[in-house]
Amino acid sequence: MNAPTHSAFANTAEEAIAAQDALDDPMTSEKATEVAMQNTLLTPRFYTTDFAEMDAVDVSSVREDWDRLITQMKSDPNKGHFKKNEEWDTVDWEGMEPALKAEFIDFLISSCTAEFSGCVLYKEMKRRGSNEDITTLFQLMARDEARHAGFINDALREAGVRVNLGFLTQQKKYTYFRPKFIYYATYLSEKIGYARYITIYRHLEENPELRFHPIFKWFREWCNDEFSHGEAFALLMKSDPKLTESFGNKLWIKFFLTAVYSTMWVRDHQRPLFHEALGVDVTWYGQEVFRKTSEISKQIFPMTLDIDHPRWRKNLDRMEAASRQIAAAKARGGLGGMMSRLGGMVKAATAFVSVFTIPAKTHRVPTSTRMEPTY
Ligand SMILES: [Fe+2]
Ligand SMILES: [Fe+2]
Repeated sequence: MNAPTHSAFANTAEEAIAAQDALDDPMTSEKATEVAMQNTLLTPRFYTTDFAEMDAVDVSSVREDWDRLITQMKSDPNKGHFKKNEEWDTVDWEGMEPALKAEFIDFLISSCTAEFSGCVLYKEMKRRGSNEDITTLFQLMARDEARHAGFINDALREAGVRVNLGFLTQQKKYTYFRPKFIYYATYLSEKIGYARYITIYRHLEENPELRFHPIFKWFREWCNDEFSHGEAFALLMKSDPKLTESFGNKLWIKFFLTAVYSTMWVRDHQRPLFHEALGVDVTWYGQEVFRKTSEISKQIFPMTLDIDHPRWRKNLDRMEAASRQIAAAKARGGLGGMMSRLGGMVKAATAFVSVFTIPAKTHRVPTSTRMEPTY
């Protein structure tokens, strides 16, 4: 089989990665790979799990919805989409304000790492599994994520930056999560990814003059992929009702909702110029993305967070301030730095507890998780 010439046409994640690696001119970008290698609470991580337990999942109770989703993913409507074409306007990297350029590149590197993190996990599940339902799904999702990561890398390459995907796979630290935590975290990151991309896409549809980079034109098809991935995780959870119904697991769900939302808030508030260039008020954007994600996640989670509660935004802002303090203290070093860092951690933890203990809004979940992307 001939390897495809571009990751956009790849049928598997392996082909997509090979196509990206083949593009790699002598240009190296240690800086970008270094950024992608970072493991902090705020940077995208790589995950590993109990693959045997995941391989044993029985989806027969959700068979009809499962087969429909797999058929749709196999039909591959986005094949060839994640590639530059005549819609890709020239990017004036030279003329871009340096501080904005730095934030935007940081955004691209972190998005590329997040996409690739999904790819690595899904690809591994496919490789280790023998349950055909599971391996088929994970191979399809790995394919999509590899195309997404490849496309972002194409964009970065124009700015003289690239993330070395092969190197990351080998060298980045992997965090172990039990399968159920993978479900909660990955389901949410797929759905919040959909909500983020579609919110930016719709905003730029109305304000095309603010589209300072062509990649945003690709966001609609992109977020539909993420939406489908989220649908798959919703079905995996639905196949085992105790995952969303037992008291302990409900607490975990609330924990993951709180952690994912607050991480996004803190991270986005650290890119003020990027959001300003898009003409997006970052606080509005955060709340809007939470609202959409909450609405969608009602398909499977029995609760949503009360994001209009008086303690909500106040404490997200506290977490953000604490995160700045921690970063500054780390840079400063020494005993003073250590003390300030500790202080920051206590502040962040206190704010997190304050948000976590806001009473959640509960509802009845529908019998079928099935949902269409309607935003
Ligand atoms: Fe993706
Ligand atoms: Fe995805």
